[in-house]
Amino acid sequence: MQVNGQIEGLRKGVLESLKSIYDMQIPRGQVYTGELVSVLAQVSTSANREVSVLIDRKGNVLDVRVGDSSTTGVYPVNVRRSGMSLAGVRCIHTHPGGKSALSELDISTLRQLRLDMMIAVGVLNGKPTEVSAAILAGSLQDVELFGPYNPCDSRLNEILDTVLAMDKPGKEMTVFREEKERALLIGIETPDTPVISGVSEASISLAELVELAKTAGATVVDTILQKRPSKDPAYLVGKGKLEEISRIVQAKEIDLIIFDEELSGSQLRNIENFTNTKVVDRTGLILDIFGQRAKSREGRVQVELAQLNYLLPRLQGRGVILSRLGGGIGTRGPGETKLETDRRHIRRRIDYLKKELTEIQSQRQTMRREREKNKIPVIALVGYTNAGKSTLLNALCSADVFVEDKLFATLDTTTRRMQLDDSTVVLLSDTVGFIRKLPHHLVEAFKSTLEEAVLADLLLIVADASDPYSPDHIRVVNEILSDLGASDKPLVLVWNKCDLAGGDFRSPFFRNEFSEVYVSAVTGQGFDDLKEAIKSNLKSDIVRLILHVPFSEGWALPFLYENGTVISVDYEENVSVVEVEINRKFIGRISSFIIN
Ligand code: GTP
Repeated sequence: MQVNGQIEGLRKGVLESLKSIYDMQIPRGQVYTGELVSVLAQVSTSANREVSVLIDRKGNVLDVRVGDSSTTGVYPVNVRRSGMSLAGVRCIHTHPGGKSALSELDISTLRQLRLDMMIAVGVLNGKPTEVSAAILAGSLQDVELFGPYNPCDSRLNEILDTVLAMDKPGKEMTVFREEKERALLIGIETPDTPVISGVSEASISLAELVELAKTAGATVVDTILQKRPSKDPAYLVGKGKLEEISRIVQAKEIDLIIFDEELSGSQLRNIENFTNTKVVDRTGLILDIFGQRAKSREGRVQVELAQLNYLLPRLQGRGVILSRLGGGIGTRGPGETKLETDRRHIRRRIDYLKKELTEIQSQRQTMRREREKNKIPVIALVGYTNAGKSTLLNALCSADVFVEDKLFATLDTTTRRMQLDDSTVVLLSDTVGFIRKLPHHLVEAFKSTLEEAVLADLLLIVADASDPYSPDHIRVVNEILSDLGASDKPLVLVWNKCDLAGGDFRSPFFRNEFSEVYVSAVTGQGFDDLKEAIKSNLKSDIVRLILHVPFSEGWALPFLYENGTVISVDYEENVSVVEVEINRKFIGRISSFIIN
């Protein structure tokens, strides 16, 4: 074993003493021995340099080096051991000059190497004077300092014991988890997997899963698409493949395995136990994203309801693993405490949420009736996630709707007013994006939001013209629409992002099924065509008028409020100037107020 670091110029005797440290064995339960500290003090004084020693949890000396860590090069510490948060190594080093207070550099080494403990021994005239130590108390930010103590004080032993007890598998300090979980994604292809435009649906779906995982905040480290004659009932991919997966988990430091299939409770448990790694399925991942993104009261209630319904059959046996997983993907939402309580509690919560939802929905219905009374046509934007629905709504209505290049930026329906021409107004509604294998619980839970689409007078299916899989996305959207009972609505297929697809892009796929328009929400190209298509599909009866209503016509204002939407009222000398949207059928009653 060689002494590392700045050993040039050291006397032979000093080098021999340093080498002898490798032969020392530190008994269990002790941070260091008196012999070690005394040798360190002597050599450090003779060399007039820092000396540092790394010791593992078995008490073996792994490394002896001279000089501080800024000058001695890289320590031989593998900081990521499977299942543990800390490196399993402590560092004891000297401070010539007698003071043991830890320096900034000492603390940063503690953090960087995730040491079990960083110990400094003050040395003066060949003797140890005092010791100080630091540990990571549950997170990289929480450094706890101890000392200075007399070198014979035994308190550090107890502190090290506590650190080691905390850092056992199953008691991970979750904060050591990387900011982003490192995910391995697994898809499965069987002989009956459909092929879309020459590509297996399993690989398209897996590519989507990558986007979903990123949206949820994970780092996608690798993907595996496994071909099998059929799905394994116990392990989905089979035990042999799981062994390979476990090796990848080890080698690539994976925190999370995400399956592109909905797993049963027992499959989830089996795979977690086999790989000793957290497992999430596609549904769990989508629910997680929805959980992060739902903002309105209705959206949050809907997501929680879907999450609880998803969890209920998967509860058994998951309490243990969930309780040690802490935060991260797949563990958000209803929260651990609720998961650990019994099913009855969850059922009660589901009942409560359902009532809450009914109440919110009745308010929504009131709003809808209000709209129906005014007969302002409602147009719903529907489409695959990330097609550009929100951007289009913003551009068409000059509205400020949340837009993000991530999946499911829109969870809550947003409705805005859009001026089609001088006299026609419509309401445009954005809806949650659709996706392949949209979890059944979510479709159920979001039915009320999606009803916006069912009840609309016209649907605009927004498709991304620059995405080669759009034809397939449109089919998925159509399927979900027919599940919702909305397939008989008038439809316009809006090919968006034409600026990316090339100005002359024309799709050959749906010529006989839909009327199509080509637009770009970013450049505004094709908006006139879109408005024309909306008008011809709507044949709206609503007109916007400016009226001069004489003060003497006391009935008129209440009449306008009752039957139309009054946008503004100004008062002039003898008249009220009223801007109103109203059904054509009332024009006869108010025609004398219309100004030319
Ligand atoms: P979900 O909320 O997931 O359903 O998405 P969405 O369909 O509402 O999509 P969104 O409007 O959030 O847009 C997704 C991304 O596409 C954003 O980065 C937009 O800036 C971009 N985008 C939308 N329309 C266009 C377009 O016409 N051209 C270009 N180049 N980018 C666009």
